Amino acid sequence: MIGVLVSGEGSNLQALLDAGLPVVAVASNKAGVRGLDRAAASGVATAVFSRDAYEDRDTRDLAMAEWLEGLGVELVVCAGYMQLLRQSFLDRFPGRVVNVHPAPLPDFPGAHSLEDLLEAGAQETAATVHYVDEGVDTGAVIATERVPVLPGDTVETLRVRVHEAEHRLLPRVVGDLCAL
Ligand code: GRF
Repeated sequence: MIGVLVSGEGSNLQALLDAGLPVVAVASNKAGVRGLDRAAASGVATAVFSRDAYEDRDTRDLAMAEWLEGLGVELVVCAGYMQLLRQSFLDRFPGRVVNVHPAPLPDFPGAHSLEDLLEAGAQETAATVHYVDEGVDTGAVIATERVPVLPGDTVETLRVRVHEAEHRLLPRVVGDLCAL
């Protein structure tokens, strides 16, 4: 069973739900985000674990891990989750935490990867699913789908096409991981 972590829009969460994958829990560090509404609309349990509500990040991440485990989550998918996970969280789900990223890794990590990629004059980006470790997008890559940069592309136009690729790639990879 799958737990998904979101911080915002949740379109990748929606792709997982639409694919009929067994998502049983959706957690966010931020209240009121669209991803939580999408989960609730599908009848999936939701919870908010904001950093401010806990003494420190370890305590927050541990509470989140316990909530997910309590719902039977075996695979955690970060889908637009904008916080690093502590090792204490990762230890609860060894080799079972993945993330979706809009650019090739390790070349273009971080929250501004598409800006960096266009700035560098790259010819293509790639929807990328990778394992999560304590670093910023540093875990081993599992699968990618290439997305060419077109003449006149801006971060916004490129982001739309990468999202389309993510919505194809992520459910396929997560489905494969569930079948293991
Ligand atoms: C995606 O582009 C993903 O690669 C990045 O954050 C974005 C989340 O989009 N990590 P959404 O919330 O799934 O719509």
